Amino acid sequence: MVTTRLDLDRIRAAREVIDPIFLDTPLYQPDALGRELGCAVSVKLETANPVRSFKGRGTELVASELAAQGRTAAVCASAGNLGQALAWSGRRRGIDVTVVASRGAPAAKLERIRALGAELELVDGDFEMARARAVDIADERGVRRVEDSLDIETCEGAATIGLELASDASSVDTVLIALGGGAMATGVGYVLKTLSPGVEVICVQPHGAPAMTRSWHERRVVTTDSYDTIADGVAGRYPIPEVLDDLLQVADDAVLVHEASIVTGMRLLLERAGLVVEPSAALGVAAILEDRDRFAGRHVATIVCGSNVDLDAYHRWVGA
Ligand SMILES: Cc1ncc(COP(=O)(O)O)c(C=O)c1O
Repeated sequence: MVTTRLDLDRIRAAREVIDPIFLDTPLYQPDALGRELGCAVSVKLETANPVRSFKGRGTELVASELAAQGRTAAVCASAGNLGQALAWSGRRRGIDVTVVASRGAPAAKLERIRALGAELELVDGDFEMARARAVDIADERGVRRVEDSLDIETCEGAATIGLELASDASSVDTVLIALGGGAMATGVGYVLKTLSPGVEVICVQPHGAPAMTRSWHERRVVTTDSYDTIADGVAGRYPIPEVLDDLLQVADDAVLVHEASIVTGMRLLLERAGLVVEPSAALGVAAILEDRDRFAGRHVATIVCGSNVDLDAYHRWVGA
């Protein structure tokens, strides 16, 4: 039995709270993509919703809990997608949301956070600096700080993807999951290891932001001094110990991929599947590209987890 901070009954109950617009997302096989990669590839499409990423599943839980407690404000640090999702979920429930982000985050993400009505504070520095500033704001204002991957609701929301995979993807051998703070990997991984223990769970991070993957391999928190990757959604330097403990229970492997493979993955998702994705959502395809023999002939599912991308950069990367 897999024991983590997560609980199957709570994850099942979460489905009743999350706006259905985020649930029961398509799972299908773009044949041309599979032919290109030499294995059967299913994509779980988490981008066709108002915030264009899977993060709405978790923020729906957070915001409904805040509303039930009569709270009217919350703050979070975000690389860009959690902030949009919390802004969306908060706005519908009368919760004032403040998002702290790096000035270097993709402009499209920052614009969308503002457009969704959140207060946006930018820091000069990376995501970890934004995290530190969010702690200060929460203390100053006495409001709830939403800490992605540590707050259990963010993991439970992501875990509902696992419920859908477990019921719809019976023939899948392996699920590839982009790894950032770990909410998605620990959530989806927990459900798969509980309901479909034969399915292999592989986490994917860029070489340029390897802290959590290194931590998984060394079974202790390993931090880095900096990160450098186009996959902004998964970039961090300080893994959260509780999340690492959970990841150690549910992941079969954690691999690192190069930036060039991420770019090729984005291009293939466009050309062979008609999908515009942000770099973090191409990590799974990048992992297949870097180890074709490992996946040859298998049925691999990858979660296409976000499509918030600056168009100029996107065109530069994919040459489209
Ligand atoms: C598009 C995208 N992919 C992957 C991740 C990583 O997810 P997690 O932080 O749950 O590991 C994020 C996080 O925000 C994201 O926005």
